[in-house]
Amino acid sequence: MANSRKKVRLGIVGAGIWGSNHALALHDHPHTDLKLICDLDEVRAKTLADKFGCAWTTSLDSMASSDVQAVTIATPDHLHRDPAIHMLQAGKHVLVEKPLATSIADARAILAAADQAGVKFMVDFHARWHPLFMGAKSYIERGDLGNPVMGYARLSDTIYVPTEMLGWSGRSGPEWFLFPHVMDVVRWLIAREPVEVYAKGHRGVLSGKGIDCFDAIQALFTFEGGASVTFETSWIVPNSYTNVVDNRLSLYGEKGGLELRNEPNLWVFTDRFHTPFASESVTRYGKA
Ligand SMILES: NC(=O)c1ccc[n+]([C@@H]2O[C@H](COP(=O)([O-])OP(=O)(O)OC[C@H]3O[C@@H](n4cnc5c(N)ncnc54)[C@H](O)[C@@H]3O)[C@@H](O)[C@H]2O)c1
Repeated sequence: MANSRKKVRLGIVGAGIWGSNHALALHDHPHTDLKLICDLDEVRAKTLADKFGCAWTTSLDSMASSDVQAVTIATPDHLHRDPAIHMLQAGKHVLVEKPLATSIADARAILAAADQAGVKFMVDFHARWHPLFMGAKSYIERGDLGNPVMGYARLSDTIYVPTEMLGWSGRSGPEWFLFPHVMDVVRWLIAREPVEVYAKGHRGVLSGKGIDCFDAIQALFTFEGGASVTFETSWIVPNSYTNVVDNRLSLYGEKGGLELRNEPNLWVFTDRFHTPFASESVTRYGKA
C-alpha cells in the first residue's frame, strides 16, 4: 500500500526561484517529508520554510549533521560544487540542479565525491518526466520512427531571464542554464551518444549590459550511427515574445518523425499523422 511506505526525510539547499519549486513538489509528494531548508540568505530560508512548515538553517554543516536522508541542491549554476560535495560527504543522497557544474574540474570533483559516498546521485533533468517528452520517447522506443536521421532542438529564453530574473547570469550562460535540458533529452530519446560537435556562439548584447556570457549558440552534433542534430539556444529573445521560454524539438527517423511544437504540442507522422495530446506547461511557462 503506497501510503504505508516510510517517508524519505528531505532537505533543500538554495531557497531561490527553483528551490521554491523543489519545496512545492517535495512537500506535496506522498512519500517524502520535507524537513529542512538551507539558504545563505536567512530571510529566504525562513520564508520558504515557514510556507511549508519545516525547519530552516543558513549553515551547510547543520544540513549535513541533520537526520535528512536526501538533499536537493538548487544554488546558482556556478555554486553547485561546495554544497553537493558537503552533502555527499555527509552520506546524503543528492539531486543537483542542472547544470551539474560550469567547469570540468567542478564536475569531476562532484562525481568523485558521489562515487566515494556510494549514495544515490542524480542531476535534475526533469524533461524526462514530462508527459510530452515521455510520449515522444514511447514512439521512438516502439520503433515507429526507425533509426534516427536528423533532429533540431531549441531551448531559448527571453532576455528577461539573464537581465532581470537571475542575479548571477554572468557566471553562467545559455549553454549552462538551457542546453543541458535539450542535450539530455535528445540523448535520452534517441538512446545514442554524440561523437562529434561543431558550435558557434555570439556575444555582445548581454556583455554590453555588463553580463559576461554568450547571447546565443548553435551547435551541430553527430551521434553514434550518423544522425545529426542541431541544437540552438538564445538568452536574448525579445521580451515581446509570447512566452518566457521557447522550446521546440523535432526528430526525423528513417520511417517517421515527430515534433514538439505549439498547439497541439506533439505532432507524430509515421504511417499516419496524429496529434496524441496537448500539454500547456511547456508553451505557457512564465506568461499568462
Ligand atoms: N529559475 C529557473 O527557471 C530554473 C529552472 C530550472 C533549474 N534551475 C536551476 O536551479 C538552480 C537555482 O536557480 P534559481 O533560479 O533558483 O537561483 P536563485 O538565485 O533564485 O536561488 C539560488 C539560491 O541559492 C542560495 N545559495 C547560494 N549559495 C548557497 C550555499 N552555499 N548554501 C545555501 N544557499 C546558497 C542563494 O542565496 C539563493 O537564494 C540553478 O542551477 C538553475 O539553473 C532554475
